[in-house]
Amino acid sequence: MKNPSHIAIIMDGNGRWARKKGLQRTDGHKQGVKTLKSIVKVAAEMDIYCLTVYAFSTENWRRPESEVEFLLKLFARTLKKEGHELAENNVVIKIIGRRNELPKFILDEILNLEDLTANNDGLQLNIAFNYGGRSEIIDTAKKLFEKYDPQQINEDLFCSNIYIDNYPEVELLIRTGGEKRLSNFLLWECAYSELYFTEKYWPEFKKEDLEMAISEYKKRNRRFGGIDDNAY
Ligand code: IPE
Ligand code: IPE
Ligand code: MG
Repeated sequence: MKNPSHIAIIMDGNGRWARKKGLQRTDGHKQGVKTLKSIVKVAAEMDIYCLTVYAFSTENWRRPESEVEFLLKLFARTLKKEGHELAENNVVIKIIGRRNELPKFILDEILNLEDLTANNDGLQLNIAFNYGGRSEIIDTAKKLFEKYDPQQINEDLFCSNIYIDNYPEVELLIRTGGEKRLSNFLLWECAYSELYFTEKYWPEFKKEDLEMAISEYKKRNRRFGGIDDNAY
């Protein structure tokens, strides 16, 4: 089997990684950014077409105010700091989620970076920030309701109106940090994804771990509800 063309990652375990090392949770988030940077590079080298990562969920606002504020600032700072290098490396960046609920200092960085990378044609990096699978489905339903008759609505139309329009199906979903749940990530897009869970915390996730996930994916038998050719 070929490499998956669309990989999604739930980058979990920053806080636990930091506590394990006697550091602050915020140090874990900083280290998490470094991991993301290296994994983006690896994915680009492996000719992965699209990578979608979960950076902040619609539920993460429930965290203490100081951590939320840290995460918002870290995100804006990272977009600003890494933008040029990503642009030079031919990466196309899209931020998915409810951006109208984000403060202006983040929105400005988002628009800036999307603009900067819009004409690239390398790895598509979608960063889910203030993202929830359920809000995506609701937002898409509202959009379709405004534009179409109910009779016209079908799966193809839905796919071309979600936040990530017309991207390939998520073929491989990876979650670090040991939990085995989706936590409201890509509910529509992961309907038939292969799921891969690792105990490793996100800050310690390496190229070898991504390679291991991909090699496991390649061994999976993807039937999509059908049967194997040699089943009779
Ligand atoms: C993932 O790490 C990053 C975000 C959710 C922003 P966590 O902060 O959830 O780390 P753990 O799961 O508490 O260890
Ligand atoms: C999922 O991790 C969200 C991100 C990685 C951004 P959480 O740490 O928020 O998920 P739960 O709380 O364990 O479900
Ligand atoms: Mg977590």
